[in-house]
Amino acid sequence: MRTLLFLFSFFWIVEINAASRLEPMELDKNRAQLNYMLNCQGCHAKDGRGLGDVPALKGFVGNFLSSNEGRAYLIRVPGSANSPLTDVELAEVVNRILFTMGDKSLSDAFKPLTPEEVQTYREQPILDAKAERSRLLAKFPIRDKLAQ
Ligand code: HEC
Repeated sequence: MRTLLFLFSFFWIVEINAASRLEPMELDKNRAQLNYMLNCQGCHAKDGRGLGDVPALKGFVGNFLSSNEGRAYLIRVPGSANSPLTDVELAEVVNRILFTMGDKSLSDAFKPLTPEEVQTYREQPILDAKAERSRLLAKFPIRDKLAQ
């Protein structure tokens, strides 16, 4: 019984940590949700599965965080970089995508993107997003192939 209680409290602590990871202070969830709906959902779908040729964010997008250039890629893609969102709003939307759609592809060590990072990455738009995507994918281990 004691062992059971011990195990239970352990899982409880893990659960709480996972939950707090999902609630960064700077994230205005409603605004992020609305901005996703207005600017991204048309191609990425409500649940991030991707419509037509658009790659799935769901269960996959966190993989890009395994390198700094992958992190930058999430902002440098045309859909992100050219959106009418401010740097704060874009950071918020992409963080929200990562939190709600990353699933197992998102590492526990994930640090949310800051508006300052977004500003820097945005100034380096990608000319050929598909080629950059393949180059990055060839470099990192895929955490969860669920969506591809
Ligand atoms: C016109 C369609 C379209 C819109 C609108 C769009 N995207 Fe995308 N997005 C794509 C496509 C296609 C890719 C794959 C890379 C490429 O070819 O541009 C992509 C890739 C991404 C990626 C990298 C994921 C991967 O697997 O390559 C992220 C992150 C992303 N988009 C975020 C956003 C955000 C945030 C918005 C809204 C602010 C948005 N996108 C709007 C089409 C779109």
